[in-house]
Amino acid sequence: MISASDGVTAKRSLKASLIWLRCAQCSGTNNAISFHTILCFLELLQGSYYNNPLYDRPFDDEKVIKEFPSFTSPNIWPSQEVPQLETAFKELGRLIIDVGTLLAMHCDKYVKSIAPSYEDGRLTRVLHTGRCVKARLLHYFPCDSAETKDDPWAKVNEEDLGSWCGFHNDHGSLTGLCCAMYLDPQGKEVPCPDPKAGLYVRSRKGELIKAGFPSDHLAFQMGETHQIHSGGLLLATPHCVRAATGTAAKGISRETFAVFMEPLWDEPMDIPAGLTAEDALRGTSRQYLPRGVPPLGKRWQTGIDFGDFTKRTLKEYTIY
Ligand SMILES: [Fe+2]
Repeated sequence: MISASDGVTAKRSLKASLIWLRCAQCSGTNNAISFHTILCFLELLQGSYYNNPLYDRPFDDEKVIKEFPSFTSPNIWPSQEVPQLETAFKELGRLIIDVGTLLAMHCDKYVKSIAPSYEDGRLTRVLHTGRCVKARLLHYFPCDSAETKDDPWAKVNEEDLGSWCGFHNDHGSLTGLCCAMYLDPQGKEVPCPDPKAGLYVRSRKGELIKAGFPSDHLAFQMGETHQIHSGGLLLATPHCVRAATGTAAKGISRETFAVFMEPLWDEPMDIPAGLTAEDALRGTSRQYLPRGVPPLGKRWQTGIDFGDFTKRTLKEYTIY
């Protein structure tokens, strides 16, 4: 198991140039990586570095690599610049996937109990066989250009809430997150400088909830793909990241690490027999979603596979 200090070291060691290297490498392709890359470029407030934490070269077939480059491209590690990164990245990624698999077993049991036609252990299978898993180190640049408020509870609106990363749903099956850390300009870890900064989710009832969790815990968000696979019995989690503002937040960056667990590109985006498209799209119409989240019904229909769904999702986020 990875120690907390290894993960901290890995996150601290990442330089901005390295963060952008992977973004640049992946831009312009219709796939899961560039979905988040585009969000990253749109925000201009984050940088990120992606790799597959399980397989350095998930596929050998050059034709497949050419056709689905960011699902399948081999990892690139900064072995000279940050030699400790590869081991820490893989160990933390594996830990999150292992815990996610335990959670997936419970999700599968729940869905099966309500929809007997649901494939036994489908989410667990996706996590076990999805060689396209991606982990992402995220660096949120200090938000010095944002309006600073020394009274952090003074005003709340959706623009403020999404000031580090706008509202969206993850489009894969399940996302695992570790707790964010905050760094001063010298790279020293500091407490969160703004009690209102961090991850927010929108509940089923439309409430905004600040989704904080302790530093020795992991958090998981359901993605749209599993919402479809479960026929809407489990719903994707709209979420955003609010920037730290105020005098104390000057020069303070936010660092975190997320693992996007998703199926192979040819996995059918089907729903359990007996459930309807309307069931699968439950809670996803405009009235329930924050501004900026393209409705799932616009990107999904029966008969498509995960690769198609990814392309459609990317296209919609490109437009927004
Ligand atoms: Fe996300």
